[in-house]
Formats: sequence, structure tokens, C-alpha cells
Amino acid sequence: LSKIEIKLSDIPEGKNMTFKWRGKPLFVRHRTEKEISAEQSVNMGELRDPEHDKDRVINPKWVIVLGVCTHLGCVPIANAGDYGGYYCPCHGSHYDASGRIRKGPAPLNLEVPFYEFPDEDSVVVG
Ligand code: FES
Repeated sequence: LSKIEIKLSDIPEGKNMTFKWRGKPLFVRHRTEKEISAEQSVNMGELRDPEHDKDRVINPKWVIVLGVCTHLGCVPIANAGDYGGYYCPCHGSHYDASGRIRKGPAPLNLEVPFYEFPDEDSVVVG
């Protein structure tokens, strides 16, 4: 299927859930207020692939990214690593809670797919 619809109320605050979309893992993360304010205040100068959090999300509560490390394609682990977002165990890439690369060999941020919110409780990706 080219599109996937996900029910948001199934994902508690602070949790990341993994879905399968177009043969790839898709992460949907329900961020806490603390994560939102931390990611919104990151200085662009600290980033290898500079992107403001606001340009990576539609609703700051929800981070929707492909679960594919931009180094060599392993699946990162959620809520792990030095920046509290994702950690790729294959060669040690650390991503923040916006999915941005912060440390390790990966060159780019986790990819944000096209998505929209048709109503308050769902997101459609694709
Ligand atoms: Fe993720 Fe190499 S594939 S760090």
C-alpha cells in the first residue's frame, strides 16, 4: 500500500511506535513538552544537517520519520543515544528527538515523508 493511516490516540506521550510503510520502518513519535522545547531551541550551528525542528514537523507533538539510518540503512532504536531521540547500533549514530543527526557516521537527518492530518486523531503518510 502506498498510504498508511495511523490512529494517534494509540501512541502514548513519550513513546515511539514503528509501522511498516512501503517496505520500510516508519517511526511515529509522540513527543513530550520537554522534548518539544529542547528540540525547538537547538542552535543550528550545532547541527551537521541543519534543519529547524519547525521545518521537520507539522504538529510539534508528532515526529514522523523513516526509521532508516542515513549511514547504511540500519533501523535505529528509539529513546536511546546521547541525544534522547534515536540511536543506530550498527555504527553508533545518535539522533535527537527531531530525528536530526547529532553524532556518529550518518551524514543526514532521518527523512521526513509526506504526511497530513485528516482529523485530530489520525495521520496519513504517503
Ligand atoms: Fe546506522 Fe551505520 S547504519 S550508523
